[in-house]
This record gives sequence, C-alpha cells and structure tokens, in this order.
Amino acid sequence: MKILILGVNGFIGHHLVNRILAEKPDWQVFGMDLGTERIGAALHNPRFNFLEGDISINKEWIEYHIKKCDVIMPLVAIATPKAYVEDPIGVYHLDFEMNVNIVKQCVKYHKRVVFPSTSEVYGACVDPEFDEDESYLVVGPIRKERWIYSCCKQLLDRVIYAYGTRGSLEFTLFRPFNWIGPRLDSLDTAKEGSSRVVTQFIAELLLKRPINLVDGGRQKRCFTYVDDGISALMKILENNGNVCANQIINIGNPENECSVKELAAVLKKLFQEHPDHQQDSVYSDIIEISADVYYGKGYQDIYTRKPRIEKARTLLGWEPKIGLEESLRLTLNSFLEENQAAAL
Ligand code: UGA
Repeated sequence: MKILILGVNGFIGHHLVNRILAEKPDWQVFGMDLGTERIGAALHNPRFNFLEGDISINKEWIEYHIKKCDVIMPLVAIATPKAYVEDPIGVYHLDFEMNVNIVKQCVKYHKRVVFPSTSEVYGACVDPEFDEDESYLVVGPIRKERWIYSCCKQLLDRVIYAYGTRGSLEFTLFRPFNWIGPRLDSLDTAKEGSSRVVTQFIAELLLKRPINLVDGGRQKRCFTYVDDGISALMKILENNGNVCANQIINIGNPENECSVKELAAVLKKLFQEHPDHQQDSVYSDIIEISADVYYGKGYQDIYTRKPRIEKARTLLGWEPKIGLEESLRLTLNSFLEENQAAAL
C-alpha cells in the first residue's frame, strides 16, 4: 500500500511513519513537511520518500502523489489553543482552506482519505461521553475566537461526510482525544506558552517557572498515550473488511480522565522523583490564573471531554492499554531527555 502523509514531521505524522516502517514491510510512505526535526532516522529508509516543503507551494508534487498513492492523510494543521485566539485567520487558512483543496483532489482521483478530525468538534457538549454519531457539537459565540478551530474541523468533517454519502469519496475521520507522548511540543513553543497542557507543565517544571492552572484547573481531559493512538490508526489504515469505510471514530482513553489541577500535581511528583531532579533546590509552584490573563479575551474553556470508544472497540478490535501515570511518565522522561541540555 502507498500512503501519502502531509505533515509527516508533526506529532502524529512522525509516530505513524515510524510504526509503518517498523511493522509493514510492504507499505511505502510519501511525506511532506516544512521540517525534519522529528522524523530523523526514517529519512534514510528506502520505503520513505520525503520532500521538505510547504503544502501551499508544492501543489504539483501533492497532486502527483495523490494520484500515485492509495490512501491520503492530510495531517497539516495548527492545533494549539493559543494560536486559535492569536491567529484565527491563519488557523482558518491552513486548517480549512488548504485541507479542503486536498480533500477535493481525493474526490477527483477517487482516493481514500483518512482525515484527522478532533475532540474539539464536540466543544462544550454536555454528554458524559462524546458519541461520534449522536452527540451535539456545541460552540460558543463568535467573539470567542477559540472556536474557529473547532468550526473549521467540523465543516471539513461535514464536507467529507457529504462527499462520502454521495459516493464520491471513501473516508475515515478519526478524532484524537488529547494524545500525548514524546515530541508532542518543543521547549521553544513552551517558552512562548503555546504548548499543549502536558508539555507546557513539564517545560515549566524544567524551566523552574510557575505552573499556571487556568481558572483553577477544574477542566478535565482524557489523556491518551500516542502509542495507543497509533495502534488504532494502523487498524484504520489496514481497514480489514472495509469496516472503516465512511466512519467517524473517536480515539481516546476514557479511563485516563483527570483534571488539569490533578495533572499538575502528578507531573510535579514525577518530576521530583526523576533521578536528574531529585536534588533540585527549588521546584515550580502551582498557581491559579484567569483564562483572560493567560489566553486573552477570545478564549473559552472546555470543561469536560470524554470519548465514547465503542466504535473503535467494535470496528477496530482496539483497546487503549497505557494508563494515565505511565503515559505522563513516558512523556515527561522523553521531554527531559530531549530538552534538558537546551534548558540549561
Ligand atoms: C487541544 C487542542 O485544541 C488540540 O491539540 C486538539 O485538537 C485537542 O485538544 C486534543 O488533543 O484532543 P485542549 O485540550 O483544550 O485542546 O488544549 P490544551 O492546551 O492541552 O489545554 C488543556 C487544558 O489545560 C485547558 O483547559 C487549558 O485551559 C488548560 N491549561 C493549559 C492550563 O490550565 N494551563 C496551561 O499552562 C495550559
């Protein structure tokens, strides 16, 4: 099978390409990204063909490879809440406009698209568990610009679904729920305060800066270890019996639910237990901050977010295996290993 991955150097992309190259000797991957810092060793693998470049410029290369490949995964997107508030037009342009063009080419060339939707499309849904085919998708007012990402992704989901139900496109939409793991975010993005919460907190611990609990940290997330997420994605790509055709599938770990306040406490404990930091003279304080001050007026939080994963269980025969503390420990250890020197 030939797979085209746009954004292959991203968090999901590079973990996926490494797994494909390790486990699927007869699969070939074609990838594009702006940089190579995450993909590393994969670059030397003859089954991986990579072009360093921008998807908004290298349009001919993309069209040629859409024609050539069997499955297309457009993973390029801005996916950090701080950016939704600071650069909503940039989010719309990249996340929606660029990607809808790729989707249209998949329609034109009759190619299967495996597309990243997001847990954010459920927004402030009040269901205890979010169901792919039943839950309402709830967003806030326009002045709360945070919702632009959710809306871009939701409209893409709807466009893809409409092509699919009219027989013009074979698709699978997957919705990652707060995947974490090695190389989620860099130390540089954390220094600007624009990392996802787990890597932001680990970076604060490393930099000896306070850990900020936005609005007291009562928001809850279900953190999913990336290896579990990638296992589900592999099954979606395999698509045995065509079970994933035109399906939307949550990929998350409902057992790993915790509040942001609990998260801060666990990460601080894990950091203090780490062999390189047991003797540190000071540790980060955990403080409270308002959302307006931390993110700005355009932000609005999401207080609960738990996936229902019956579809992933039944369609894919998949079950997440890695518990919360282990997921956090693995993420913390790798972040420290990769960024310790730079932090000093
Ligand atoms: C994220 C991002 O939108 C995407 O990466 C993705 O689509 C989705 O979730 C996902 O991974 O499923 P969110 O979970 O809100 O959204 O993003 P985080 O930045 O990780 O924030 C989680 C929570 O921690 C928020 O309630 C935020 O207010 C809080 N937070 C964040 C803090 O309390 N302190 C911080 O320093 C950073």
